[in-house]
Amino acid sequence: MNSKFKEYNLVYKIIGTGSYLPSNCLSNEDLSKFVDTSDSWITDRTGIKQRYFVKDELTSDLAVKAGLAALENANLTAEDLDLIIIATTTPDLTFPSTASIVQRKIGAVNAACFDVQAVCSGFIYGLSIAEGFFATKKVKNALIIGAESLSKLLDFEDRTTCVLFGDGAGAAVLTEKTPEDTSGLIRTSISTKGEFTDLLKTDGGPGLSQSAGVVHMQGQEVFRHAVSNLKKVCLDLLAKEGMEKSDIDFLIPHQANKRIIDSTAKALSLTPEKVIVTVDKHANTSAASIPLALDWANKQGKFKKGDILLLEAFGAGFTFGGALIKW
Ligand SMILES: CC(C)(COP(=O)(O)OP(=O)(O)OC[C@H]1O[C@@H](n2cnc3c(N)ncnc32)[C@H](O)[C@@H]1OP(=O)(O)O)[C@@H](O)C(=O)NCCC(=O)NCCS
Repeated sequence: MNSKFKEYNLVYKIIGTGSYLPSNCLSNEDLSKFVDTSDSWITDRTGIKQRYFVKDELTSDLAVKAGLAALENANLTAEDLDLIIIATTTPDLTFPSTASIVQRKIGAVNAACFDVQAVCSGFIYGLSIAEGFFATKKVKNALIIGAESLSKLLDFEDRTTCVLFGDGAGAAVLTEKTPEDTSGLIRTSISTKGEFTDLLKTDGGPGLSQSAGVVHMQGQEVFRHAVSNLKKVCLDLLAKEGMEKSDIDFLIPHQANKRIIDSTAKALSLTPEKVIVTVDKHANTSAASIPLALDWANKQGKFKKGDILLLEAFGAGFTFGGALIKW
């Protein structure tokens, strides 16, 4: 049966998206003025053309702006929220959570709030965690935000990493599904391979150095693991729902590298129009990358009701996962 007409066991639906980027935009040319790199090297290896860096803003400020935009798009107020989950690796403080700070800033007084730390897969982990809250009817409305100030973790003397990342935030409002609803979350999948924690990590943290540290990465190894695990995640998700590659209307991948995105698209036999690409505009914004891409595509009017979206992410940890959504 065509997946658009199949009845899924939908848990919640997405009723609004929002995003926010800091105003300080740096092109590859701008970066090459103080990093030993070039536009052609970055573009050829990654597809990145520019990134945004915070100046005076904190991760919670980015999250507030993306979250309020998503609430407005959903026609809800902050007081309607029962739950706020923020996926971030760059919290304002070690504690309390950035989600608690955002609750205070937007006045979401009825929401339980916590952060998820699953690095670049954090937004997918957030979508997956939220399933439990909706399935057990603990919440009616939730706000999931991916927000990052990755620039704070970059060593601008290390050209192999500092050219890859950017700052920003994206958000989605989830609401409980009524029996009549035909749109919603179909299935998520999350996984971790902790044996590879050394391949992508910071060299500091509260326990080790009482500071945040900076990013270290073995790029080629990370690339190899990303390609193979993302292919498997996507094919497994489709298989579990008895869906075909041709059922996918849009792939919304984690935006780390255009070559990784192309390899997943190829494994799924997707033509370029079905693949949402924002890595050129935003660079790798870690947990913010998928909701930024989702909001960008939503606001471009790309999705029609009933479209099948496949979201996927891979990041340090290694964490990875995916989500199938009927729009
Ligand atoms: C990081 C990445 C783009 C590097 O590309 P690569 O083809 O593996 O490049 P290498 O690391 O082999 O380096 C090739 C050369 O470019 C140089 N180089 C590295 N960074 C550079 C930069 N920013 N500008 C110019 N030259 C650079 C290297 O020094 C090396 O030079 P050499 O051959 O003279 O030694 C690639 O490995 C990658 O995308 N990995 C995945 C990263 C990722 O997405 N991580 C996040 C996952 S969530």
